[in-house]
Amino acid sequence: MRLDGRTYVVTGANRGLGFQVSVALASGGAGVILAVRDVPAGEAAVTKIRARCPLANLRVVRLDLASLDSVRAVTDELRQDRLDGLVCNAAAIMVKAGRTPDGFETHWGVNHLGHFALAGGLVPALLRAPAPRVVMVTSLVARWGQVPKDPSGLAPGYRPSRAYAASKLANLIFGLELARRAESCGSSLLSVMAHPGYARSDEQHPSGGRIGKIFDPTRLISQSAKEGSRPLVRAAADQGLVSGSLVGPSGLLGTRGAPKVVPVFSRAASPSTGALLWRQAEEATGFSWPVLTMGGGPR
Ligand SMILES: NC(=O)c1ccc[n+]([C@@H]2O[C@H](COP(=O)([O-])OP(=O)(O)OC[C@H]3O[C@@H](n4cnc5c(N)ncnc54)[C@H](OP(=O)(O)O)[C@@H]3O)[C@@H](O)[C@H]2O)c1
Repeated sequence: MRLDGRTYVVTGANRGLGFQVSVALASGGAGVILAVRDVPAGEAAVTKIRARCPLANLRVVRLDLASLDSVRAVTDELRQDRLDGLVCNAAAIMVKAGRTPDGFETHWGVNHLGHFALAGGLVPALLRAPAPRVVMVTSLVARWGQVPKDPSGLAPGYRPSRAYAASKLANLIFGLELARRAESCGSSLLSVMAHPGYARSDEQHPSGGRIGKIFDPTRLISQSAKEGSRPLVRAAADQGLVSGSLVGPSGLLGTRGAPKVVPVFSRAASPSTGALLWRQAEEATGFSWPVLTMGGGPR
């Protein structure tokens, strides 16, 4: 995989799958902008990547997806850049009940609305590249998600798993809607989705005690962070992918294995649901996406 001359933004690049994606892209010769909420953690990740790829072109930007002000600051900072790809990887994962500073349910605000505004704000920079793409990272649990009626993502009877699944469903619906919108206006922008299956993204904290460490049954249905990152890397780098594709693991009910293009369940692919989600995100954030055909780049 040679990616020389390309530049990617990876959100949540300091650890877990985002870190592995950044390593893989940098190893392929791409420049990587690590968009992280904790700058020292981002710089520590840069040091680790440089140990493997000494010539890597790496940069850290501070991004807190929970804050639309922070998203705006990043899109302003990168407006003049040329970006080949944006990997929307960062996520709040089953956190306790809470609201972002903008008043959104945390998962909804960080995973869905934050990335919605970030991707839209980076459109001018993306359209400067010849074949730009946005990669939305979703999950197997999206299948069990429900889009909340309230555009702020708040719903009665908070359950972390439900809030997380809703946001991962929104990531998938948004990626598909973006693919439709880009195609309908003849844009060069590609929208692809990826899910990692079940990846042990934090191997430092294995579940269970000593027995769990000797035999952890979840290992049978999971894979390492590096393996889990492969569908995300393929979604970011494979030039043969068609817009609207979802890449995920090929084995054991989609939990592990080599990456391949996998089907999207029909509920997520509904154009009317996509249009509604988009409208709600614009209302909630007060942010409207620019026209996708603006900017340069050969069609
Ligand atoms: N691991 C799996 O099995 C699995 C399965 C399905 C889908 N996924 C998806 O894969 C992606 C990566 O998951 P992971 O397992 O690597 O998760 P992780 O290890 O928990 O890492 C999450 C990343 O998101 C960042 N983040 C959280 N809140 C943020 C915010 N407000 N602003 C900016 N960054 C923020 C974290 O930054 P800090 O270090 O500052 O907290 C961290 O870098 C997520 O989209 C997740 O939904 C993972």
